Amino acid sequence: MSAKKVTVLDVQKAKEEGRKLVMVTAYDYPFGLLADEAGVDIVLVGDSLGMVVMGLAGTVEVNMDHMIHHIKAVVRGCKGPLVVGDMPFMSYNTSIREAIHNAGRLMKEGGCDVIKLEGGVDFAPTVAAIVKAGIPVQGHIGLTPQTASALGGFKMQGRNAAAAKQIIDDARALEDAGVFSIVLEAVPAPLGRLVAEAVKVPVIGIGAGPNVDGQVLVTHDMIGLFDKFVPKFVKQYTHIRSIILEALAGYKNDVQEVTFPGPEHSFSMPDEALEQLKKMMKG
Ligand code: KIV
Repeated sequence: MSAKKVTVLDVQKAKEEGRKLVMVTAYDYPFGLLADEAGVDIVLVGDSLGMVVMGLAGTVEVNMDHMIHHIKAVVRGCKGPLVVGDMPFMSYNTSIREAIHNAGRLMKEGGCDVIKLEGGVDFAPTVAAIVKAGIPVQGHIGLTPQTASALGGFKMQGRNAAAAKQIIDDARALEDAGVFSIVLEAVPAPLGRLVAEAVKVPVIGIGAGPNVDGQVLVTHDMIGLFDKFVPKFVKQYTHIRSIILEALAGYKNDVQEVTFPGPEHSFSMPDEALEQLKKMMKG
């Protein structure tokens, strides 16, 4: 059962109190319910749904309608955690006006509590405008999957001092722009610590080492439901694919061998009614 609703203020307080934040992704009602029951702090309806739910090669093709559809389903199941709606590629990149409009759509039509978008210094004015419009924003820096092709692929970021410094500058610019927290993806662990120390807002890592203010993983990676590729930073807590495959194989066998459905899964009919029916059929 869900506890009290997590708010942006609770997320910010967690850093002050030294409590690590737990964030996972969800894309539909059953996983929204599960994340709620598990008592996580934050649920992200991430555009990673392009890969792990829609079977796309990346996140670039994900659009506003996909996001709203999935956010609505998660929100129905997820009453306790703060629900973050991910802004899809090109929904905030072309103009600040369009960015505010689309951020508003995710909240008004999808029902999420806050939004997340990718980008650092360059996107600080956009973030500031969305925050000013009354929409809480979570930043996302380091490896930004929507622009992975510009970054040379899904690679660790901040390898050298200049690149690492840029990521710290990105975090500071986002903080100044008013984000309530920042997702930091795929950077060396020592840089993760430096970024978390550089800003007051919570830094939630995914492949950023242990010394940040919380962790986020894509649930389908963590439970082994999606294993086309498993990034180095993913810990698989189970391999749910094998369990599902075993169940499907059992069902297939039972259907072919007619051991399913058994009497316990079938409806009965009074003998009298059956006899009467047979007579009627004979004419
Ligand atoms: O879309 C997503 O799931 C994300 C996580 C990788 C943080 O942005």
